[in-house]
Amino acid sequence: MSKTIVLTGITTTGTPHLGNYVGAIRPAIEASRDYNVLPFYFLADYHALIKCQDPERVGQSTLEIAATWLALGLDTENAVFYRQSDIPEIAELSWMLSCVTAKGLMNRAHAYKAAVQANEESGEADPDKGVTMGLFNYPILMAADILLFNAHKVPVGRDQIQHIEMARDIGARFNHIYDEHFVIPEAVVNENTAILAGLDGRKMSKSYDNTIPLFLPEKQFRKLIMKIKTNSLEPGQPKDPDTCTLFGIYKAFATAEQVAALRLRYEAGIGWGEMKQFLFEYLNDHLMTARERYEALIQSPDKIEEALQEGAAKARECSVPFMKKIRNSVGIRSLRS
Ligand code: TRP
Repeated sequence: MSKTIVLTGITTTGTPHLGNYVGAIRPAIEASRDYNVLPFYFLADYHALIKCQDPERVGQSTLEIAATWLALGLDTENAVFYRQSDIPEIAELSWMLSCVTAKGLMNRAHAYKAAVQANEESGEADPDKGVTMGLFNYPILMAADILLFNAHKVPVGRDQIQHIEMARDIGARFNHIYDEHFVIPEAVVNENTAILAGLDGRKMSKSYDNTIPLFLPEKQFRKLIMKIKTNSLEPGQPKDPDTCTLFGIYKAFATAEQVAALRLRYEAGIGWGEMKQFLFEYLNDHLMTARERYEALIQSPDKIEEALQEGAAKARECSVPFMKKIRNSVGIRSLRS
């Protein structure tokens, strides 16, 4: 039986937080242990350059994200784990795809449209002010990531669905003009994965600066949990678990029985201080072993680099011969007879 290829990328601009873990990392790592699936997971460092021109940050984020995935037990026997920039075929394919992509299609991309709209709203005369070609071409690079490995399924957040649709359009267009090279991918949006709230109660996100990093040292981790915003109800007053950030985070980690038990404590009026301490201890126990592995990995970047190079070699076993076919198909060929 041929395996289902599942592919996803993680942009290397930040430090993994609890929301990333619950929403994307944990399900992806679970899938890496399913041998009916062939996962391709990669560090999207070319994508990082679109929104981050701080070289230290891109480098540090690459280290932290790779260490996180490895510390959490990504099965690299099964999964192909690599860095986008180690696969030159991605950039090459991206160009070829650009040449079959209508500019009008890119004009409709949400990220680009949002930038233009922000300019218009601020009374800026040039609607494209601050828009780089990187931002404009973003969906084409992403299509190359996906189509190069003939991914069947692409797990993404809601905000990325349009990009998968564009990858489908671009792939179909290329297939129509040249040969039927590409599998047309499908977006997978998991409705069941929890969306965590952050420190201020809004969705946990780097853009709101309200995140709780996954592998913060214990003391700092406790401090941040203590900072999570709650309401002003006193100990002894019944509280609503379903609108509570603390409860939501606990629920994303605990078993159904544990969650039911905590619900009763909310009804009985658990105090916020007590609840925060409880959540801290629970998460700390849960994350402790992985945190130790993470810290050890951060101290030995050579090991991480080695894992990424092995992943890149595996990825290129597919991408090099595939790109050769594609080159031939578009007429980029050796003249030697
Ligand atoms: N753009 C995606 C994001 O911001 C990351 C990404 C890059 C990606 N290339 C991809 C996701 C290919 C899925 C497939 O989340």
